[in-house]
Amino acid sequence: MHPPRPASDPNAAAATATPAAGAPAAAPAPEAPAVDPAWFRRVLGTFPTGVAIVTGLDADGAPAGLAVGSFTSASLDPPLVAFFPDHRSSSWPKIAPIGRFCVNILGDDQEAVCRAFAVRGGDKFADLSWRSSPLGSPILDGVVAWIDCELEAIHPAGDHDLVLGRVHALDVGRSALPLVFFQGGYGRFSPLSLAAWEGDLAVQLRTADLARPQMEELAARLGAECVASAAVGDEMVLVASASPGSSGQLPTRVGQRIPFLPPLGTAFVAWASPLARRAWLERAGRDAPPGTIAALEATLADVRAAGYAVGRGRGWHGELRTMLAKTDPTDPTDPGHDAVRRAIRALPPSYESPSATAAPGTAADADAADGSAQELRTISVPVFGRDGTSVLVLTLIGVHGPLGGPAPGGDGDDPVAALRAAAATVTAALGGVQPD
Ligand SMILES: Cc1cc2nc3c(=O)[nH]c(=O)nc-3n(C[C@H](O)[C@H](O)[C@H](O)COP(=O)(O)O)c2cc1C
Repeated sequence: MHPPRPASDPNAAAATATPAAGAPAAAPAPEAPAVDPAWFRRVLGTFPTGVAIVTGLDADGAPAGLAVGSFTSASLDPPLVAFFPDHRSSSWPKIAPIGRFCVNILGDDQEAVCRAFAVRGGDKFADLSWRSSPLGSPILDGVVAWIDCELEAIHPAGDHDLVLGRVHALDVGRSALPLVFFQGGYGRFSPLSLAAWEGDLAVQLRTADLARPQMEELAARLGAECVASAAVGDEMVLVASASPGSSGQLPTRVGQRIPFLPPLGTAFVAWASPLARRAWLERAGRDAPPGTIAALEATLADVRAAGYAVGRGRGWHGELRTMLAKTDPTDPTDPGHDAVRRAIRALPPSYESPSATAAPGTAADADAADGSAQELRTISVPVFGRDGTSVLVLTLIGVHGPLGGPAPGGDGDDPVAALRAAAATVTAALGGVQPD
């Protein structure tokens, strides 16, 4: 039901289309009440749609196409899809007589392609590359999927037609999230488990407060700094820190932000839903060397199996710290941000894997001369919330020594076991659960 509106609302008449709250169900009205077009758009605008380009060839063999948000699957047996072209469309009447069309599902970085096809006429294919589908319709480069159809039926539907297509062939293309259209704007799908990382910091800060006694105890016992980070959007934010000994020695790094980019952040991602994992993997970028995604997936599996992620090599950590210190976090145009991203992307995909060794020629390997490339530098373990997403990641920094071994300066404790126990305690205090 629509929200209550003031009597002066120009759409007030349209409100009669819906019975008042609590009113008994009325008999069907003999005549459907008029619905104000603006109100119709406003209400229907609450429903997001995907964005597809329907393409085909005209009678001269020239490509034609239009952007549609009305594409949907209609039937599995037989395989039918549908969309609704407007009677005013100039491209659909060119395609329809040929009796074949292809539906191109756009990726979230193809807003410009959508805009090119959402204009009337002109050569929409001028700046685009495409290839022919099995039935000869254009498949646009870079789409996330395509569905090649024969025209099955056209049914009138008010000022639009309902077009049914019989699926002849279909395939997924590039691995990317789809473009989404909502209330006049373009956006992308954000899996709920990632959305949990996109809210404000309140939950994470409360959790960090809960974790503080554990963090302080660990820092003192192991002689290493223990920090808590939260993933917020495309960044990881350091929300709490406990240092061994005199905590006033180091300037606090609370508030420091690092891009949440592969290969960093595996402790947040390793237990996340497949969709959330994919969204993070996508952040590796399209220019990532071949095999990067598979190697990152292997790292996530390693982290899940071991129950923790690591960071190795003293040199790289120092470098990152220096770069972050030189970058203005409040100025998105500071070139330092790009330098930080490049440095992260240059890390090997296995950088946080507890079982990997540094690949030759990588940033982590640059420490190899003094034997510090393999040196354990950080250990990270997630704290899980009630819905099984990682609310926080606890990280021990400066735990030198072999993996799983005792921490020098500590009293013989295994830092991995100690950190996992601390994270499990905080998870239990939250009523959280670790996903299977
Ligand atoms: C996100 C989005 C969704 C659209 N959905 C449809 C649709 O479902 N049906 C339609 O006929 N037009 C739709 N349009 C509008 C057409 O793309 C637009 O009218 C275009 O100019 C038609 O081109 P044509 O005249 O070359 O056919 C949509 C536009 C956008 C931006």
